[in-house]
Formats: sequence, structure tokens, C-alpha cells
Amino acid sequence: MELRRVIETRRMTRDFSDSPVDDALIADLVDLAARAPSAGKTQGWSLLVLTGAARDAYWDLSLPLERRGTFAWPGLLRAPVVALSFADPDAYVARYAEPDKAHTGLGGGVDKWGAPYWTIDASMATMTLLLAAHDAGLGALFFAVFNGADEIRRHFGVPDSLQLLGAVALGHPASATRDERRGVSAARPRRRANDIIHPNRW
Ligand SMILES: Cc1cc2nc3c(=O)[nH]c(=O)nc-3n(C[C@H](O)[C@H](O)[C@H](O)COP(=O)(O)O)c2cc1C
Repeated sequence: MELRRVIETRRMTRDFSDSPVDDALIADLVDLAARAPSAGKTQGWSLLVLTGAARDAYWDLSLPLERRGTFAWPGLLRAPVVALSFADPDAYVARYAEPDKAHTGLGGGVDKWGAPYWTIDASMATMTLLLAAHDAGLGALFFAVFNGADEIRRHFGVPDSLQLLGAVALGHPASATRDERRGVSAARPRRRANDIIHPNRW
């Protein structure tokens, strides 16, 4: 797809079919996403990719059975892949302590940073993953890990030092004939360039 069309037509998918996604396709999409910009080329982005029983364990911890009856998007639970997106602050501190970056002072610790480049990098890579998935004909949803984050981290052995950005559900969208309930936020008007740009002065 042409880039402009990919950007214009990407929407969050919250209703998936249960047909699986090839590991090779996921790896290809992640390789594409890893081409996103990265401060000092630190590349401190990681994904915990959950499929099969591990994906089921994720949902058991995040949305226990007794709460599923009232969950607004049951089709989200069919997504064959849930990838948790992480940023590694320590990798950035270490990278910026290297000789070519030492003059920035950012190697002194996370408190030296005005903007968390680890979050920015991981966000850019995650966004690129969403676009790459859409371009490949998959659906994707970036969503918050509202519940059970600590248990989920413990269960899957995630190091404490990593920052959890959120989760990306990936899979084939459910058939177009199924009426997908859209997110509440979707009805909000999209801001246009005029609202965003402050020309020459705030
Ligand atoms: C940081 C972030 C957190 C989000 N969290 C959720 C979420 O928890 N659940 C959800 O259904 N959508 C979530 N979304 C998706 C937004 O609701 C969605 O991007 C927005 O309504 C615009 O719709 P579109 O991306 O389909 O154009 C999140 C998006 C971002 C960027």
C-alpha cells in the first residue's frame, strides 16, 4: 500500500478472527518496526510476544473470567497474538555514558533526562509496528494493561527495570460483516493541522 493510504486507513481493530498469524510474518513486521528512529541508535525496545497458552494466561491475569461477561470487546480476546511493548531506560543511560555521548550528561542517570527517549523510541517503534501490520492486512490494537500488570510481569519473568508501554493485539480482523463496536474515543473529532500548528509564535 502507498504510505499515505496506510496512514489514512489504519484504525484500531478490536474484533479479531481466531485464525493464527505466522511467526515469520510477526518477525518480519517487528524487523520493519525496528527501523523506527532511535536516540543514539540505542534501540532499547523489546516485545514480549504471547501466543497460545501464554496469551490465554495473559487474559486470565488481565481480565479474569468473572469479568468477561460485561467486557465490551469480546472479539479482542480472539487475537492470536498479544505483544507487550517495553522500553529499557537503563540501556539509554548506558548508551549516553559512552564516549561519543558523554558530553550530554545523560549518562548520569534517568533523572538527568528532560524527555524519556526510551519511551519515545519504543512508542515510535510500536507505531511503526501498527502501520506495518495494517499494510500486511492484519488488524492491530494498542491498548493499556490496566489490570494485573504486576502479576503479568511476575508471571512472564519481565525484569523490573523495564517500562511497560502497553499491549498490542495482532491478528486477522473479524469478517467485515460483523458489526464492530467502535471505541468511545473514536467519535471525537480529529484535530486538523490548523489546531496543531502555532505558526511562528504560540
Ligand atoms: C497511549 C494509547 C492508549 C490507548 N489505550 C487504549 C485502550 O486501552 N483500549 C482501547 O480500546 N483503545 C486504546 N487506544 C486506542 C485509541 O482509543 C485510538 O487510537 C483512538 O480512539 C483513535 O482511533 P484510531 O487509532 O482507530 O484512529 C489507545 C491509544 C493510545 C495511543
